[in-house]
Amino acid sequence: MLILGIESSCDETGVALVEISPGTGAPQSSWPKLISQALHSQIALHTPYGGVVPELASRDHIQRVVPLTRAVMQGSHRQLEDIDAVAFTKGPGLAGALLVGAGVACALGASLDIPVLGVHHLEGHLLSPFLSADAPSFPFIALLVSGGHTQLMRVLGVGEYEILGESIDDAAGEAFDKSAKLLGIDYPGGKELSELAIHGNPLAYAFPRPLLHSKDLNFSFAGLKTAVLTQCKKLGGELLNERANLAASTQAAIVEVLVKKSIKALAQTGLKTLVVAGGVGANSALRMSLNSECRKLNIRVHYPELEFCTDNGAMIAMAAAMRIQAKRSSPTKDYSFEVSPRWPLDQIN
Ligand code: KG4
Ligand code: ZN
Repeated sequence: MLILGIESSCDETGVALVEISPGTGAPQSSWPKLISQALHSQIALHTPYGGVVPELASRDHIQRVVPLTRAVMQGSHRQLEDIDAVAFTKGPGLAGALLVGAGVACALGASLDIPVLGVHHLEGHLLSPFLSADAPSFPFIALLVSGGHTQLMRVLGVGEYEILGESIDDAAGEAFDKSAKLLGIDYPGGKELSELAIHGNPLAYAFPRPLLHSKDLNFSFAGLKTAVLTQCKKLGGELLNERANLAASTQAAIVEVLVKKSIKALAQTGLKTLVVAGGVGANSALRMSLNSECRKLNIRVHYPELEFCTDNGAMIAMAAAMRIQAKRSSPTKDYSFEVSPRWPLDQIN
């Protein structure tokens, strides 16, 4: 069974084709396979504005989605008529941007007379490690760290997600991006901040680790950005010489909180597998620290391939395929292309 997936929730247009092998009732042994994918990032489009401009995002998705779909079909050596279902990101995300992917998915579905399926963007991130050859096994703890979300989840199987803790204000990616902006780094900033941090001392500034010792598994990153701002003001003209130290100290604060809370979630549940997903999952300091802590505790950590950490179409096609394979969802010929810009992950089943 061939499933085309379309991602257009924010500033990346992604399209991909995955295949569920026939007769694979027991998913664990044979997860769906990625056949072909194509991606266009709008980062350069939004950089001059310091963040995503929703109207520009929607317009760019409109221009990109059909050529990307053509590229995916060409790369797959299959025909449009071979597709069995079309999946799209239904939410959460920017309403106008989501509507582009949903509209194209439903138009394709209607013209090919095949069913469509709306997918939760965060479920796409959560299941993205299954795109790698070394896929995790259920159950596991998931640390979902993207630009808009920071959540710890107990994942028992496809569609069986329990939120154990989440950020009460800024997401980890937001903390990276807002701090990066204060250091004069262009949007989105997280990756560049981490590159600058390589040349700095993580102990140079003692930035706050909010909720580090709280009993729950929640996060709070808004205070960190304020602390970085205060320090930048204090440094005045010296700021330019201190950028690397500030970057390293900011990153150290974010990483320490993410690692300690993940370990706490593993200890509380007794689970021995951690899955990290979302854009911040590409951060090498986070990966190094998690790897070393988890090694000590005999815990296996899985990450998506670097290219699947940030938004992409493969994770949406994969999440749809895994839901269909696990009989959690059935695509339908309902082409009303409804989207859910605000859609909590614990409201899917
Ligand atoms: O998951 P994602 O692509 O988009 C959302 O669904 O939000 O995540 C984007 C976020 C941005 O905040 C970006 O700065 C951050 O992931 N990010 C990183 C790195 N690569 C991407 N943050 C820290 N280090 C990185 N290497
Ligand atoms: Zn995302």
